[in-house]
Amino acid sequence: MTRKILVTSALPYANGSIHLGHLVEYIQTDIWVRFHKMQADTQCFYVCADDTHGTPIMLRAEKEGITPEQLIERVWGEHMRDFSGFNIAFDNYYSTNSEENQQLASAIYLKLKAKGLIEIRTIEQLYDPVKEMFLPDRFIKGECPKCHAKDQYGDSCEACGTTYAPTELIAPYSAVSGATPVTRTSEHHFFKLGKCEDFLRQWTRDHLQAEASNKMEEWIGSGLHDWDISRDAPYFGFEIPGAPGKYFYVWLDAPVGYIASFKNLAKKLSAVSGQPSAEALFGEFWNPDSRTELYHFIGKDILYFHALFWPAMLENASLRTPTRIFAHGFLTVNGQKMSKSRGTFITAESYLAHLDPEYLRYYYAAKLNGSMEDIDLNLEDFSARVNSDLVGKYVNIASRAAGFIHKRFGGRLIAAEKRRRPEEEELETVLLGAGEVIARAYQERDFSRAVREIMRLADVVNQFVDANKPWELAKHPEQETRLHQVCSEMLNAFRILSIYLKPILPGLAAKVENFLNLPGQLNWHDLKNYPANAINTYEHLMTRIEPKQIEALLEANRESLQAAPTTEPHSLARHSEKQQHAIQPIAETITIDDFSKVDLRIARIVNAEQVEGAEKLLRLTLDIGEANTRNVFAGIKSAYDPGKLIGRMTVMVANLAPRKMKFGLSEGMVLAASGDAPGLFILSPDEGAQPGMRVK
Ligand code: MSP
Ligand code: ZN
Repeated sequence: MTRKILVTSALPYANGSIHLGHLVEYIQTDIWVRFHKMQADTQCFYVCADDTHGTPIMLRAEKEGITPEQLIERVWGEHMRDFSGFNIAFDNYYSTNSEENQQLASAIYLKLKAKGLIEIRTIEQLYDPVKEMFLPDRFIKGECPKCHAKDQYGDSCEACGTTYAPTELIAPYSAVSGATPVTRTSEHHFFKLGKCEDFLRQWTRDHLQAEASNKMEEWIGSGLHDWDISRDAPYFGFEIPGAPGKYFYVWLDAPVGYIASFKNLAKKLSAVSGQPSAEALFGEFWNPDSRTELYHFIGKDILYFHALFWPAMLENASLRTPTRIFAHGFLTVNGQKMSKSRGTFITAESYLAHLDPEYLRYYYAAKLNGSMEDIDLNLEDFSARVNSDLVGKYVNIASRAAGFIHKRFGGRLIAAEKRRRPEEEELETVLLGAGEVIARAYQERDFSRAVREIMRLADVVNQFVDANKPWELAKHPEQETRLHQVCSEMLNAFRILSIYLKPILPGLAAKVENFLNLPGQLNWHDLKNYPANAINTYEHLMTRIEPKQIEALLEANRESLQAAPTTEPHSLARHSEKQQHAIQPIAETITIDDFSKVDLRIARIVNAEQVEGAEKLLRLTLDIGEANTRNVFAGIKSAYDPGKLIGRMTVMVANLAPRKMKFGLSEGMVLAASGDAPGLFILSPDEGAQPGMRVK
């Protein structure tokens, strides 16, 4: 019987670039999908989409001065470009901001409602009176109620790890406008998850990795809370049917995006003649009694949504539930969290500008074992492993045999009936004998085991080469047939290894198909097919990673001294009345070159004024010489009377990327000192300094 499989990866947010952390997931899923597509009796679909709704995307678009629709369209293109660059082959890559998704999300909601699983309650929330919107926790900042670290997010403190409600923050402010939030009430729609407890207890036991199901048991044990699925306008998302001004919270419609992407695919497929109708295909995969398989690959951070909310939604909306959820761990680089200052926050785009995607696919495969452990990309190990395994052990087999086959034997492998000697028989038996173990490892997502096994086979092949020394045989005309036998066997072995590696290295496999002249013939069921075609000339399949490529990659991702502009007004002016603290720790060492990237100039404050609606900002007009003036918003209102600043000299960062703020464009930054003790102090040069002088 044919297996029918639908596979998904989590839908990346449409407000950021794909980076190497994301790729742990997409590469992993793609390998698994490709393995299944290589099996003759399996039909496998892989769908994904951009996750496009929510406050961060709305605000990001606003900051860029474009509509959310324009933003998500642009990012969709960037994501597609990055994924195809890494040979990730979706059958459909869609968007959650689609008609299908709106219709499906609404239908699911209405089913839940009809079942009495939706409750409307009034809640209190923090509201930004300037921006006129309710603030998600992440957009409220303030002082940690426990350790008093400043500028902490509304849900947890990065300094001491405490979690709290945003209302507990000391001196809270809106990260959007800087305003002090006020409490306001509003009606929200809740999904009564607690009513699904019995179902979820059972379901999470049977459909998750052991470590994940233990975690779920813990969560269920500590009580399932109702889930707030609505948000108030302004919000970029779908309006809730029958509730004007209320929108589905992004996490309600995001997983529905899996179904919507499949639905859209079904429509495209049904347009091909001879295919089942879109409705039939859709029903086959999503009806509650579906016999097909459904798998979601996700990161461990979003387990709660996928293992609790999602199956509860599906079950109660009379749709099928997932067969399994596969959660994976997080990426570290050189043993640490990805970091912009170390240059290890590497985007997919910049990686592709420096290195072959197949290297990373191979390295991730060598590390992944189907567990939820974090995986480390150690850049030295990465180069060493790719160079020794792929170039040294695998590709070398082909490059050592190809020349002889070409020059001496007209590109033809020895005829099948002449080829057998016990040594060759044995080599092929060993190679084919490992097929099942390798297939099982792929199936179980233990790619590291598959890689180990394949590399063990490559060692065996290299031992065969060393024992038979084709370069010696080539010197003796009477050994012509032996040479032909040995080199043919090397290429046949190379072909088998290429089939085994194909899910991991699809780009390389395509080149191998071309080189061996076996178009579309590297599938699992081709393993035993000794090649009959004349091969094409060998062109090198893969080159070694050079240290300078890695250096260039890190350099390209290293962010200079000034962090990326954020939406928040910077917090120079904010201080507490609390006791003195030790000085802040000294930041990471930088080179003189890093420092000289910062262009500091003497500036004269030619105007300073209040900014209407801004609690902490003053608008400064700075003269930096030769009639060059800059408009700068500085968070110094608490410490300075604008009138007293006019005429004063100070120091500014003149080459800071301009940023668009609510009140206008800010074209630089003035330097001021602040610490844990109260006070804020603008820097001034000694007498005689002139506007425009460079500060070094
Ligand atoms: N939009 C949600 C998912 C909605 S699914 C219905 C989301 N997006 S994300 O862009 O933040 O992450 C997409 C996937 O990439 C998630 O599965 C996430 O766990 C994974 N990863 C993001 N950063 C990662 C690492 N640094 N390491 C490994 N996986 C990571 O979550
Ligand atoms: Zn704290």
